[in-house]
Amino acid sequence: MNHSAGTLVSDAAVSPGLALVIGAGGGLGAALLTQLEQDAHYAQGLGLSRRSEVSVDYLDESSLVAAAQHVAAVCSTSKLELRLLVVATGFLHGEPGQPERSWANLDVGYLDHVFKINTLGPALVMKHFFPLLPKHGRCVAGFISAKVGSIGDNALGGWYGYRASKAALNQLVKTASIELTRRNRQSICVALHPGTVSTILSQPFAKTGLKVRPAQEAAVDLVKVLQGLVPEDTGCLVDYLGQKLPF
Ligand SMILES: NC(=O)c1ccc[n+]([C@@H]2O[C@H](COP(=O)([O-])OP(=O)(O)OC[C@H]3O[C@@H](n4cnc5c(N)ncnc54)[C@H](OP(=O)(O)O)[C@@H]3O)[C@@H](O)[C@H]2O)c1
Repeated sequence: MNHSAGTLVSDAAVSPGLALVIGAGGGLGAALLTQLEQDAHYAQGLGLSRRSEVSVDYLDESSLVAAAQHVAAVCSTSKLELRLLVVATGFLHGEPGQPERSWANLDVGYLDHVFKINTLGPALVMKHFFPLLPKHGRCVAGFISAKVGSIGDNALGGWYGYRASKAALNQLVKTASIELTRRNRQSICVALHPGTVSTILSQPFAKTGLKVRPAQEAAVDLVKVLQGLVPEDTGCLVDYLGQKLPF
């Protein structure tokens, strides 16, 4: 992987296109959109969330159908291709529950919701937005996952639902990356670990001593990583420094 600042893989072979962030209302998603809007690799940035004019709500598949149609129309009007798709949605705590400390806390309502947001929603993004990715030239799809979704890295236990939903997301990313490569050999589809970032999602769990970074700093790192990826990296789980993590 090539991700040092001086040797970024150039997008010069393809004209700057559209960068789309799904989950642009969240802490990381908003910072990523701001970063991408200032990035010369992309002619335009577009953010979608549950609160955007054209909304994306994973609990309503028809909203993804309408949002994909909207993005197709934006691409057609602006004559831009969708060169980057970042999915920055996610759920850890809130209604309907908290991450589990023990198997005794396993709750079907919480498990159902955490899988709907962390796994099924991104799967629907693949279904409705991947057909919009160009068939030629470099294009990147990055799904914000989490290191705690790594089965190989799990030494602490706990957080059953969140871990399992992110592990399942990683498998979806790997599987979709294979299909995407058949469609476009220059495509890249990865799962990303952002580090611990100061957002509503991490706030109750940010312990003293744990390195918690501002979302803007994480966004700078993640955009650098996304730009440094090459097609051989597709299907991997990559952290904010560009290091590959075990599944
Ligand atoms: N923060 C961390 O330390 C950390 C660490 C590792 C991984 N991550 C991952 O990073 C990603 C971004 O999280 P964050 O920290 O930025 O948290 P956040 O601020 O809570 O953002 C969560 C995002 O998920 C969206 N979302 C929730 N329910 C949804 C639904 N039903 N339909 C569509 N979108 C929905 C929210 O949309 P609205 O704006 O519409 O509410 C929001 O954009 C997540 O995948 C998270 O698991 C975060």
